[in-house]
Amino acid sequence: NTYKIAVIAGDGIGQETVPEGLKVLSAAARLFDIGLDFEEHDFASCDYYARHGEMMPGDWKSRIIDSDAIFFGAVGWPDTVPDHVSLWGSLLKFRREFDQYANLRPVRLMPGVPCPLAGKSPGDIDFWVVRENTEGEYSSIGGKIFEGTDRETVMQETVMTRQGVDRILRYAFEIAERTERKTLTSATKSNGISITMPYWDERVLEMAKSFPDIAVDKYHIDILTALFVLKPERFNVVVASNLFGDILSDLGPACTGTIGIAPSGNINPTRTFPSLFEPVHGSAPDIAGQGIANPVGQIWCGAMMLDHLGHPEAASAVVAAIESVLSDPERRTSDLGGEADTRGCGDAVLEALEKH
Ligand code: NAI
Ligand code: MG
Repeated sequence: NTYKIAVIAGDGIGQETVPEGLKVLSAAARLFDIGLDFEEHDFASCDYYARHGEMMPGDWKSRIIDSDAIFFGAVGWPDTVPDHVSLWGSLLKFRREFDQYANLRPVRLMPGVPCPLAGKSPGDIDFWVVRENTEGEYSSIGGKIFEGTDRETVMQETVMTRQGVDRILRYAFEIAERTERKTLTSATKSNGISITMPYWDERVLEMAKSFPDIAVDKYHIDILTALFVLKPERFNVVVASNLFGDILSDLGPACTGTIGIAPSGNINPTRTFPSLFEPVHGSAPDIAGQGIANPVGQIWCGAMMLDHLGHPEAASAVVAAIESVLSDPERRTSDLGGEADTRGCGDAVLEALEKH
């Protein structure tokens, strides 16, 4: 059984971190007897745009749709292509066309990473944020009336469908079932937002009936953000609508000091289409080309991808290798006060994995 992986390095440090990610993935494939067949693509980059006047070729979809997953670096080079053009012309197309309706981010305090929250050590913070990625607050339904007058009015609707809400909830409950703690927290605001959020709460209660062993709680988004900072230990799986999830999925990694090394998955849980794995960080034009970028976010994405493909033991081994490297200043990169460059850090993870 060989998986076909579409590889898109994209722009800036994506060109430097993706090779490190592939190196570690190849080793994991060898050690755990998993077949990985990488197919590299040069589109979805501003470089491609410079040559072709568009971010991706017209047939991009047919060229990657039969992949089992997409391993993605970063996209964006604001000096040559405006960010909304590069983003809408690439990543957002993948998310929509491949119905990647779940955005998944681990929030985990790693050894060797200074935690901005006082008194926390590795083990204290370890949970998942699951964000609805296709509907909710980010709809394009709305408009402006009485423009230019005193009565100028703008409106934008939140759209929640039963199918859209239920499928993200089911996905989050299924993740909770695979964890030891078996708890799930729902982000809401049903006190202030009086139609869509009570509906969200209602669907959570309904879905909970199908998962009797999961303990469910819910918090309004305002106090929930406070708890992320004050009591992150209490969370296991947090599920949220598109807007609330957007906020929580940046806040979570920021609380662990890891926004630069955090991975994410844009998941199509039905596996009708490929899912996409990318680090949370962007193309980092300020350090691109110097060989000093931290490759850990990219390598961790590889672990998430292995897990998604059904190889949790390989995924855990990669995460363990990352942990051992991060705890050692000689093997981590300069953004974490270490001495290694991109390749040195990637080599160190590889070596740790081979010793596992
Ligand atoms: P960024 O994440 O690229 O950089 C923010 C800061 O973090 C920079 O100082 C950078 O040097 C540092 N940094 C980021 N990743 C790092 C790593 N692996 N190792 C060491 N330092 C790292 O965000 P920024 O500057 O806002 O955006 C730059 C470009 O990237 C823009 O074109 C933006 O649109 C794009 N971008 C793309 C994303 C994606 O592909 N999903 C996500 C975020 C931004
Ligand atoms: Mg965001």
